[in-house]
Amino acid sequence: MCLRFSYSLSLPLLFLFFLGSIPSILTQQNEDPTIKTMQDFSGYPVVEPPHPFVSNSLSVDAQTLQKQIDELSTFSDTPAPSVTRILYTEKDVLARSRFIKYLMGLAGLSVREDAVGNIFGRWDGYEPELAAVATGSHIDAIPYSGKYDGVVGVLGAIEAINALKRSGFKPRRSLEIILFTSEEPTRFGIGCLGSRLLAGGEALAKALKTTVDSQNISFLDAARSAGYAKDQDDLSSVFLKKGSYSAFVELHIEQGPILEEEGVSIGIVTAIAAPASIKVDFEGNGGHAGAVLMPSRNDAGLAAAELALSVEKHVLESGSIDTVGTVEGF
Ligand SMILES: *[C@@H]1O[C@H](CO)[C@@H](O)[C@H](O)[C@H]1NC(C)=O
Ligand SMILES: [Zn+2]
Repeated sequence: MCLRFSYSLSLPLLFLFFLGSIPSILTQQNEDPTIKTMQDFSGYPVVEPPHPFVSNSLSVDAQTLQKQIDELSTFSDTPAPSVTRILYTEKDVLARSRFIKYLMGLAGLSVREDAVGNIFGRWDGYEPELAAVATGSHIDAIPYSGKYDGVVGVLGAIEAINALKRSGFKPRRSLEIILFTSEEPTRFGIGCLGSRLLAGGEALAKALKTTVDSQNISFLDAARSAGYAKDQDDLSSVFLKKGSYSAFVELHIEQGPILEEEGVSIGIVTAIAAPASIKVDFEGNGGHAGAVLMPSRNDAGLAAAELALSVEKHVLESGSIDTVGTVEGF
């Protein structure tokens, strides 16, 4: 996923976002027509009573957060300003242990990891038996990407918890930060690998037993070399029990130009892209252009081009601008 964005994250808004279930805070801001309450977005009434928490005691340490983002970007296999951090490589493992788990520990969170390296940092609420509220994102980075992508959603979440702690806030529900393993499909061709397993992806858990990367290193060997999946081939231990979380919110950089073009610093999404892809092989026959004439030609490249254009045509005819059909390469 290509990163072109302006880093125009509004930090005060981060907290509205994080505490999005407090309708009173959001409705006060409602003179701005671009801001809607979670209730407007979801169509569901907000069932929890407003927390008697005073938001103006919060202060976000934006400078430290920016420094952490810069430092995490140095865990990279390509030179700055690019970032390349591929699943279970040395840099990924170091970024997890030396940086993310370390910061979670400093924030006083109890840290646990599952068999594929989803990392959970938990701040127990005063009613810890209630389902937790979670937030988080990913820190793997496609080759030559930028430094913000999912990182903002992980480091931002840690700073959000630090700010809440500094303010004296005590959560009723436990708050949990999740670092999701392999949002990017770079190494094994599977995107959102960690979160799909958490959601109980049985087919995926099974497929991962035989998944290899382009160097023929198996997923399980790679996971083991990073310290995960120790004695197990069965990844079903990663599946979460139903009802583990009461809410989840993710802060993420928009990987596109829409907010920037509209001059809006933050947006709340109501749905998210659900990518699906197919790989098609075309076989043809070579033939001299001077002697193999049109009736006998069987050109693989041209057939592929026709399919590519039909994909575009089909999607355009759907009339939906957010249905995107594209062809990655030949
Ligand atoms: C990949 O590794 C497996 C098991 O180690 C081996 O059987 C297979 O031949 C390898 N494939 C290639 C293309 O090297
Ligand atoms: Zn991302």
